[in-house]
Amino acid sequence: MHILTVNLGDRSYPIYLGEGLLSRTGELLKKAGSGKKVGIVSNQTVADLYLDPVQESLTRSGFRVIPIFVPEGEEHKNLKSLSDIFDRLIGERFDRSSSLIALGGGVIGDLAGFAAATFLRGIPYIQIPTTLLAQVDASVGGKTGVNHQEGKNLIGAFYQPRLVLIDLEVLRTLPRTEFVAGLAEVIKYGIIEDPQLFALLEANLEDLLSLNRGLLEKAVAASCTIKARVVEKDEHEEDYRSVLNFGHTIGHALESLTGYDQFLHGEAVAIGMAQAATISRREGLCDDKSLERILHLIKGAGLPTDLPSGIRLEELANKMEVDKKSVGGKIKFVLCAGIGKTRFHWLSAEDIIARLASIQKKVESENR
Ligand SMILES: NC(=O)c1ccc[n+]([C@@H]2O[C@H](COP(=O)([O-])OP(=O)(O)OC[C@H]3O[C@@H](n4cnc5c(N)ncnc54)[C@H](O)[C@@H]3O)[C@@H](O)[C@H]2O)c1
Ligand SMILES: [Zn+2]
Repeated sequence: MHILTVNLGDRSYPIYLGEGLLSRTGELLKKAGSGKKVGIVSNQTVADLYLDPVQESLTRSGFRVIPIFVPEGEEHKNLKSLSDIFDRLIGERFDRSSSLIALGGGVIGDLAGFAAATFLRGIPYIQIPTTLLAQVDASVGGKTGVNHQEGKNLIGAFYQPRLVLIDLEVLRTLPRTEFVAGLAEVIKYGIIEDPQLFALLEANLEDLLSLNRGLLEKAVAASCTIKARVVEKDEHEEDYRSVLNFGHTIGHALESLTGYDQFLHGEAVAIGMAQAATISRREGLCDDKSLERILHLIKGAGLPTDLPSGIRLEELANKMEVDKKSVGGKIKFVLCAGIGKTRFHWLSAEDIIARLASIQKKVESENR
């Protein structure tokens, strides 16, 4: 078992990473000092697979367990589900010493985390992420929240978990498309911070895609370490944490424009990263060889790199989120300066699509 730490003073917490950890939940939670009453927020799919070992382990350690189900899907990461969770917690007389476990992907993690952040002004919570995306990204760093019909993640809070328990075995039941989408975020960490991780992915992509145990552990541990270090530097995304948005300005806009049903998040981010890297090359920040490696790795993972044909760039621009701290409607766009280094450029949405348009023109002329 790997133990990583997110160092945030009195809100520091461990990330336990290994195989077969679900059946050690009780012991690890005890160590973290939780009260006796524990709610497990999950959905039917994940609960059918993994509730039993978690619940048994907790019961063995003397906890009283209350499973709380929410319906499956991003569309249920909303105020209604939150309110249903509160009803259960009140009905079961949860107090401030009780805790919540998020057992599931990022949807469950964000929802349960926000419930924990706000119930009785905050009760402890534990992340047990069961998708690759949640293991390397959503479960670490304390962003919690729900969607509003007007937009994703509009309601939320920064609230750190007490511990994160990553059992790599659960990835064996994850649909391959979900695994590959999560891999996009792992590739992102390599590009923004870690040439060694990038090279590891390049050299072992096939083995990783077949869920080789040792490689999975290395890739997830390296990713969580990077996420932890970034969050330690800038917990509330005042400055440096936006480096994690590499590929996301274009990726988020594309998800929004296509109504969130054409691409998984990681797929849209893969396209965003490929486009951002190409822009970086054109700005003279990224060399040809690095760009080639980035595109090759993304494609090799089975992820897309091109914007879908038929996308209207002006419409894409309308979906780009302007940075809250910007003056004059600029976006803090993350570019890469080779592999492992980034630069922020303040660009307007129009600046970005002008660059995308010129990339598209070049591709078209090459294809002719
Ligand atoms: N808080 C953050 O920092 C952060 C970061 C990135 C993404 N997110 C959020 O995460 C969400 C996306 O998370 P996701 O990609 O994990 O999707 P998800 O939670 O919707 O899970 C994807 C699907 O896989 C199923 N599933 C989960 N684990 C499984 C397993 N082990 N075996 C089989 N099926 C399994 C789920 O039931 C679901 O159908 C979005 O809401 C996004 O906003 C949050
Ligand atoms: Zn992402």
